[in-house]
Amino acid sequence: MKKLVALTGAGISAESGISTFRDAGGLWEKYPVQQVASHDGWLADPVLVNNFYNERRRQLFDVEPNRAHRLLAQLEHHFDVAVVTQNVDNLHERAGSTNVIHLHGELMKVTSSRNPDDPTCIETLTRDNFEVQPGQLAKDGSLLRPYIVFFQEAVPMIDVAATLASLADIFVIIGTSLNVYPAAGLVHYVRSGVPIYLIDPKDVDAHMADVTFIRKTASEGMAELTRLLTGETV
Ligand code: APR
Repeated sequence: MKKLVALTGAGISAESGISTFRDAGGLWEKYPVQQVASHDGWLADPVLVNNFYNERRRQLFDVEPNRAHRLLAQLEHHFDVAVVTQNVDNLHERAGSTNVIHLHGELMKVTSSRNPDDPTCIETLTRDNFEVQPGQLAKDGSLLRPYIVFFQEAVPMIDVAATLASLADIFVIIGTSLNVYPAAGLVHYVRSGVPIYLIDPKDVDAHMADVTFIRKTASEGMAELTRLLTGETV
């Protein structure tokens, strides 16, 4: 089976009702990103940061995967699919994708603030227990924090993602402004000659040539891509 790697961003979850970051009315218009999503912001006010992610977690229970998530999951019938997502929601998994790498962490998980990648400290929250209380501690006695890669922090999964991109036979970019590195740099690991598709309703600079632009929303774009790649009309 050919390997298909999909790099996804907030745009694929937009039609599920989760706001993107940099569109008009986006999350970073409403919240000061440095305060709620950076390492310094965490050190300055851990309660404010935990409350911000409590709110984003709460929203997760009211949304469903959309057609784009489902069509991407269905491509697993035709290809060996790896989803490399910048999103921290769990909509790819809920839509049925079985190989999802979260570059920027996962909203439903919390961890140690001393060693965020210590697997013995990573806990998965549930619908009945999704809020981190002020002063709540992780298993190692440090303050409990979101299992999210904040700005200023390393991206632990980037090497895995780069290797996947370098092995891809088809590379698909869906719903990301390609503003944030190192995620945006993954396109440069794709071997020359490998087809790259970019699905976005707006112009996005993929910083490289010969990209097939599908200038549509994620759902419509994934329907077109499915037709292009499999001949199936969905
Ligand atoms: N379908 C497809 N794409 C869409 C849709 C839609 N319905 N609506 C918006 N988009 C596109 C926008 O045109 C834009 O190109 O989704 C992209 C969203 O870009 P950003 O808001 O910058 O989100 P993203 O690229 O995922 O941000 C990357 O930045 O703040 C950090 O950690 C955060 O993971 C995030 C990272």
